[in-house]
Amino acid sequence: MKRFEGKVVLVTGGNRNTGIEISDLFIREGAKVFLCGSTPASTEKGESILRARGHDGFTAIPCNIADIAQVNALFDQIERDAGRLDILVNNAANQGIGHGTPLEMSPDRLLEVLQTNVIGGFQVTQQACNRFFLKQEVNPATGQKGVIVFLGSNVSMRAIRNRTAYVTSKGGIDAMVRSLALDLGPLGIRVNEVAPGYIYTERWDVLDEKIKARRRLNCPLRKEAMGSDIAEAVAFLASDAARNIGGERLVVDAGCSAQHMPEDVDF
Ligand SMILES: NC(=O)c1ccc[n+]([C@@H]2O[C@H](COP(=O)([O-])OP(=O)(O)OC[C@H]3O[C@@H](n4cnc5c(N)ncnc54)[C@H](OP(=O)(O)O)[C@@H]3O)[C@@H](O)[C@H]2O)c1
Repeated sequence: MKRFEGKVVLVTGGNRNTGIEISDLFIREGAKVFLCGSTPASTEKGESILRARGHDGFTAIPCNIADIAQVNALFDQIERDAGRLDILVNNAANQGIGHGTPLEMSPDRLLEVLQTNVIGGFQVTQQACNRFFLKQEVNPATGQKGVIVFLGSNVSMRAIRNRTAYVTSKGGIDAMVRSLALDLGPLGIRVNEVAPGYIYTERWDVLDEKIKARRRLNCPLRKEAMGSDIAEAVAFLASDAARNIGGERLVVDAGCSAQHMPEDVDF
């Protein structure tokens, strides 16, 4: 039997890069997957990539998670099509790239990033709990009704330069995961986080090989994650095997944040 046979899963930002690999893994493992990108065009693109990989066990619905009306409409469709939800993966993120230094960044940029990464993740979580998890039967293998996995980042503990909005949002996710785990755990909802480091995405395709090599030197394991590596960690935390793990932050960064200094500046 496949690991997620009979489960219904929602992956926000499940249309490209890491998110599409998370969607792909859950589909291959037998789940019925709902995924969203922020626009109809980006969502359709993700849908055609998954169809080209031979998948049909999924539904792609555009949804800007920063907009509560669109979040409501997404959950209306899940209710009509599946009538339940077992696992929520809060993966969608505004990367907040190109905002400049914190001295020149407009506060509006900060609000925009928080609106997707923190408020967006929160309002999707609230709908998943109120509309599905709390009303559902207990999974006999875990004694729980629903599972939530957030995507954080290792930058919440060790910041990167000129990404104040993004770094702040990921710190907010760390804290929100702990807070939700306390309040929702007794209600049968298990909440955890995967905190990646470098992930190979389409943004790496255009990088100079020297930059890629320098980034790999930052990693004790000498390799950035592929989207599929992150998907495996998400699947573990979402699975029945992780039934006693709550409010935890699983770092998947090739050992990057275990070190004080990268090798070439150490002495
Ligand atoms: N890449 C890394 O090195 C790295 C490192 C650490 C943590 N992470 C975290 O891992 C997760 C995946 O990263 P990634 O690099 O694969 O992400 P990405 O390439 O930046 O893709 C972001 C995804 O989120 C969606 N999204 C953005 N704003 C949205 C909104 N308002 N409503 C709905 N969807 C929205 C995008 O949809 P569209 O296609 O419509 O834009 C896209 O699917 C993120 O949470 C990220 O913060 C990534």
